[in-house]
Amino acid sequence: MLDPAAITAQFIKKFNAQPKLFRAPGRVNLIGEHTDYNDGFVMPAAIEFATVIAAAPREDRRLVISSSGFGDAEFDLSQPNNRIAEHHWSDYIVGTAVTLEKAGYRLKGANLLVESDVPSGAGLSSSAAVEVATALALTETSLFSLSKIELIKICQRAENEFVGMRCGIMDQFISTLGKAAHALMIDCRSLDFTAVPLPAEVRLVICNSMVKHQHAGGEYNQRRLECEAGVKHFAQFKPGISALRDVSIEEFESNKNGLSEVIARRCRHIISENNRVVAATSALAENNVAAFGTLMNQSHFSMRDDYEISCCEIDTLVEIAQAAEGVYGARMTGGGFGGCTINLVKVEFVEDFCRKLHEQYKISTGIDCEIYVTSASDGATAL
Ligand code: GLA
Repeated sequence: MLDPAAITAQFIKKFNAQPKLFRAPGRVNLIGEHTDYNDGFVMPAAIEFATVIAAAPREDRRLVISSSGFGDAEFDLSQPNNRIAEHHWSDYIVGTAVTLEKAGYRLKGANLLVESDVPSGAGLSSSAAVEVATALALTETSLFSLSKIELIKICQRAENEFVGMRCGIMDQFISTLGKAAHALMIDCRSLDFTAVPLPAEVRLVICNSMVKHQHAGGEYNQRRLECEAGVKHFAQFKPGISALRDVSIEEFESNKNGLSEVIARRCRHIISENNRVVAATSALAENNVAAFGTLMNQSHFSMRDDYEISCCEIDTLVEIAQAAEGVYGARMTGGGFGGCTINLVKVEFVEDFCRKLHEQYKISTGIDCEIYVTSASDGATAL
């Protein structure tokens, strides 16, 4: 856990001013992968890992950014066109600032000290945590505030337009609106959401395969294009639809002829995954954790076989976990191609599970995984 007092002291030493602190968490998605940009359903929880930004306004219009973990950067708000994405972590801060300004919000310059303990490149939304913390910090130092939904949309847009990653809305949403001890079932079309209490008998165990995901450029955006091709196809049979959310599994089966084999599998993943999120919500409401776990397992197979976003290290972790005692369900979480798995484990088995998972993964792959036993946390806030 990051220590706000230490961050404040560091800020005062560096910038000689008293900062305000803002925290935004990473997230783990329990079920509903790649459904967000198909106007579908997701069920993430905010986690205890977070980005904390200490911030104080400046007299000029510069952002002076310092971070012990990531290095330093500077940006002049009055010269927005001088800076494009540089594939540097500060893209998320600059992108958020530029997007706020483009939306008509006039920002003051600020000194920012940024610290994060969200593992990066691990599918736990380290980037959304930076964006959301930045948006909170910059709006507060500029003496205005945004509605939470507006803030979420701005952060998503920063990632879409500035960073160039066509992500959906899930990560920024849960980082902003997460609730301790709960997951959120989010309808990514209407942006309505319900807080679903997590059963007390289980822990969320996240396992980092240590394989860094790389979906900023290629595969992620490719999946989006494949889904769009699917929508075009089904619109021939159901005019007016705008997303795979609008296609039922029965309509998919009756009208899939004419789709390439690959696009058909992509569509089947999205359509069946949406159904699984809805079923998982009912399972939790009935406290049927076993049914919830089975849906998580099925979700993994669908990501592995139909959406093809897993990798062999992740599949190894999932196989070990699904066979282990005390595990209700296990699946990859996040964008894919590496990163983390999420495991729903009975409290009394957690210790044993973590030891065995680490051991067996090391034997199979030679890699030391990292395991985080986490609780669902609250969304972003000023500290
Ligand atoms: C990334 C994106 C999200 C979502 C997930 C996959 O985390 O940022 O919008 O699409 O992948 O579910």
